[in-house]
Amino acid sequence: MAIRNIREMGDGVLEKACKEVREITPRTLQLIDDMFDTMYEANGVGLAACQVGILKRIVVIDTTGDEPWVLINPRILETSGEQTGNEACLSVPGKTGRVTRPNYVKVMAYDRNLKPFELEATELLARAVCHEVEHLDGHLYVERVEGELMDVEDLEEE
Ligand code: NI
Repeated sequence: MAIRNIREMGDGVLEKACKEVREITPRTLQLIDDMFDTMYEANGVGLAACQVGILKRIVVIDTTGDEPWVLINPRILETSGEQTGNEACLSVPGKTGRVTRPNYVKVMAYDRNLKPFELEATELLARAVCHEVEHLDGHLYVERVEGELMDVEDLEEE
């Protein structure tokens, strides 16, 4: 188990486009395992490779605690509906903001053996997929926040 350092907003690595993964090496598998460890340790529901400083198109997501998804070279094929809710990011610690996302997404990606698959997601999982895929193109959810970016602490006091 290895916890990697999570890069925070302001770090240029988060603003770069990640590169397609062409082959899976032992290093790639180690990266994926470390990304899960790092995400769970930080109590997150998703993490993109650029958040640990690696510019590869890899994301890990687990919105329930027992449904881990690895999405390599993910591509959103379809979206529909709308959901608005508070979003947060391990790279923007202590903050949250309202973001509107599709309520349904269909995404095509490759698994850790580079086998293609499709995932249909709704609600929180759909939100996580959209959020993480945007990381791969150098974008953070703060660009989409409606109104003010808030402190998590203030929100909890409401
Ligand atoms: Ni994020």
